[in-house]
Amino acid sequence: MSHHLTPLTDPAHRPHSQRLAWLASDADSNPVGTAFLRLFTDPGQQHLAELTLQVHPVERRRRVGSSLLDAAVAAARDDARRCVIAQAAAGSPGDRFLAARGFRKVLTLRFTRLSRADVDTTALAGIVERPHPGYRLASWRGTVPDDLAQTFAAARHAMDDMPMDDTDYGTVTWDVDRVRAAAQAVEQRGDHLHTVVAIDTGDGSIAGFTELVVPGDGTGDAQHYGTGVLPRHRGHGLGRWMKAESIRQAHEQYPSLDGLLTDTADSNTHMRNINQSLGYAPTHTTHQHQLDL
Ligand SMILES: CC(C)(COP(=O)(O)OP(=O)(O)OC[C@H]1O[C@@H](n2cnc3c(N)ncnc32)[C@H](O)[C@@H]1OP(=O)(O)O)[C@@H](O)C(=O)NCCC(=O)NCCS
Repeated sequence: MSHHLTPLTDPAHRPHSQRLAWLASDADSNPVGTAFLRLFTDPGQQHLAELTLQVHPVERRRRVGSSLLDAAVAAARDDARRCVIAQAAAGSPGDRFLAARGFRKVLTLRFTRLSRADVDTTALAGIVERPHPGYRLASWRGTVPDDLAQTFAAARHAMDDMPMDDTDYGTVTWDVDRVRAAAQAVEQRGDHLHTVVAIDTGDGSIAGFTELVVPGDGTGDAQHYGTGVLPRHRGHGLGRWMKAESIRQAHEQYPSLDGLLTDTADSNTHMRNINQSLGYAPTHTTHQHQLDL
């Protein structure tokens, strides 16, 4: 069946990116698929575009996805982008489509989940209460308190060497405005951002952090965002300590939560070991694909 594409105006403007959109319709003008292309606008990521593509299941294998992809890739080229990235579940139609359309697999992400029923509160308390000489834990909900804002922004560098394997992801520069805006974006969409940090008691600086986003109504699964420890503070068990405290708080404050979901690069052995030791069990795997333009 023939189909046509309509470029759409996308109102989803964000501080660090803009998004282009296309709607694919059949001959009767029924929508059959969409494509969204996020163009990152900050220095360090202006080479990068991220694609999300959807075709209605009954309309697949009729080249709708290919037409949407062609439009998005042409737009990325027009905008002088160096590469387009897209994610799909391992073994899914999207995974096969992207491979067939010239993308290469650059990163494998393993998703693991800790079900509320499997939270071992005694074991967690044991980890959280064990002293880590030279460090103390602190936490907040929402935006970072003013007195920690500067050191928290600096601590985001802990994510700089997070394994991204072959992904041409560029660099993200964090400052106080950016950490505040990221927290406000989560709260504005109605979810709750919880942050646990380890503070170096010697100078009061943040040595590491872990973030958890809980759905606004406190049900379903919460999602772990970043966990990072600055290089000079690694090897002291801070990652596991902070994450255990994050689980403990979620378990206590959100009794209707089903579980906690986290995703980790396949090659990130340290983080995977932490999650495994805390009881997270594998759920699924996704692949990041990249098309170099
Ligand atoms: C991925 C998706 C957009 C493909 O849309 P589509 O309209 O079916 O794709 P096309 O018909 O243009 O397929 C082009 C080629 O990709 C490959 N392909 C697509 N789907 C495939 C599948 N399920 N199995 C194997 N190969 C597949 C084939 O080589 C196909 O050519 P062929 O049909 O001549 O063999 C669609 O399956 C979808 O919406 N999936 C869920 C969302 C998703 O994963 N999006 C991609 C990542 S953002």
